[in-house]
Amino acid sequence: MSGHESTYKPNTGIEKWLDARLPIVRLVHGSFVDFPTPKNLNYWWTFGGILAVCLMTQIITGIVLAMHYVPNTEMAFASVERIMRDVEYGWLMRYIHANGASMFFLAVYIHMFRGLYYGSYKAPREISWILGVVIYLLMTGTAFMGYVLPWGQMSLHGSAVITSLIGSLPLIGEPIQIWLQGAPSIGNATLNRFFSLHYLLPFMIAGVVILHIWAFHTTGNNNPTGVEIKDPKKDAVPFHPYYTVKDGFAIIVFLMIFAGFVFYAPDVLGHADNYIEGNPLKTPAHIVPEWYLLPFYAILRAITFDIGPIPAKLGGVFAMFAAIAVLFIIPWLDTSKVRSLRYRPLARQFFFGFVFVCLMLGVAGASNPDDVVIPTGGDKLRYEASFEGTAERDAIKAVAASHDGKFSASKGVATVMFDDYHDATEFAEAAGIEEKPAVYHPGVKWLLVTQILMFCYFAYFFLVLPILGLVERPKDEPESIAKSIHHKEPTEGSAIPAE
Ligand code: HEM
Repeated sequence: MSGHESTYKPNTGIEKWLDARLPIVRLVHGSFVDFPTPKNLNYWWTFGGILAVCLMTQIITGIVLAMHYVPNTEMAFASVERIMRDVEYGWLMRYIHANGASMFFLAVYIHMFRGLYYGSYKAPREISWILGVVIYLLMTGTAFMGYVLPWGQMSLHGSAVITSLIGSLPLIGEPIQIWLQGAPSIGNATLNRFFSLHYLLPFMIAGVVILHIWAFHTTGNNNPTGVEIKDPKKDAVPFHPYYTVKDGFAIIVFLMIFAGFVFYAPDVLGHADNYIEGNPLKTPAHIVPEWYLLPFYAILRAITFDIGPIPAKLGGVFAMFAAIAVLFIIPWLDTSKVRSLRYRPLARQFFFGFVFVCLMLGVAGASNPDDVVIPTGGDKLRYEASFEGTAERDAIKAVAASHDGKFSASKGVATVMFDDYHDATEFAEAAGIEEKPAVYHPGVKWLLVTQILMFCYFAYFFLVLPILGLVERPKDEPESIAKSIHHKEPTEGSAIPAE
């Protein structure tokens, strides 16, 4: 896992005995003590260590919670309440575990954006990146199944929404959905298997993390310049004490923020509805996942139209999986030879645009797709009336016109809009409509905004990354640098550090 010759020297007899049989101390020493690490890593590189702490925290608190939790639909909710009220420090374990999931995702997103910014996914670190995406997928699966366990309203209805997605696959969808749920609907069998898998997956994550570390220890770390270090003796320092201290400091600051949530706002990131026991007969008004899955939820809901033979719901599922799957192929989509965005000013602008798009997709995922984002005029009153045949349609149209109503019709339903309340009521009287008019807010809705954001998300990967690398041209080397540092005349287009 260390990827380099360790300088470990066993001193005592027992150390020598073990080293000759199982050189595990040598392996750890080579990986975390004398591993040559670039001198210039900034604080964005401390998130790997922070993530390792998050994973351990989740596993330890999770094991304690599992000692008291009961994976049965009749008792799950009550067992969690018991943990909160009666189990010694149960509240602490649960709040650490629940907020720990959020902190874990916060850290992983920073870690991933760091990778995107400094081009850490590019050769030769493709495998580190791909294993990272595998970890991320396992994390989303673990978090999703963990959220079902307290058996609150969101647990139950959120999981119903997601498992029903699989059911939208043609032919095989429904059998797979039933197989996953263990029954035709979410129930005890589902809760049992989700608990089992929620316990299993973190250990699989731990296994993939070991491969992840092995991979970037084999290639060596990237660094903020994106230029490979030339001489480990000059450009690198041993991991310990330099990075153990720096990572340690960052971990402490991170844990302070984490503690702020746990002790002062433990429920601020969760949804209040999950404190109501799950009731299959009562669907919450707005089903939303946890914040860290919102951007993907937004993409899932953005496809509201059939694409050829693919129905809208299935299209949404494909788009959501594609949004994650595209991460696997970034190393081959990005055509630039320059790793770090430090030296790619244009690409940097697009990167920050991309971060904004991801954040806005999160906001979109939490919003109602039918709500207006940008109003385009005053509120209107709307009547809808069904008609049969063109004669009836034309009659409604005529009455609408005589009361200044704006008429439109589609699929046997006429819609008439009014600016004025009196016009509207007079029209209703004349047309024999008894219901009250609906208030209509004209404007751009979240749905359209989400669709545009989704387009931007995919465009970043399929248009910006491939094209920018081909069209970008390095600036000329400044004379001052050429003469004073390189002791030669400036060369054209050489401002980018060469490998
Ligand atoms: C449990 C989750 C994870 C853990 C514990 C973890 C751990 C680490 C550690 C300790 C490092 C070295 C220090 C650093 O660069 O920050 C690292 C590097 C890296 N990670 Fe992760 N990681 C995780 C998830 C991910 C994910 C989800 C991705 C991307 C999708 C990713 C991509 C990378 C890459 C490309 C590097 C190499 C960076 C370099 O060489 O400088 N990691 N990871």
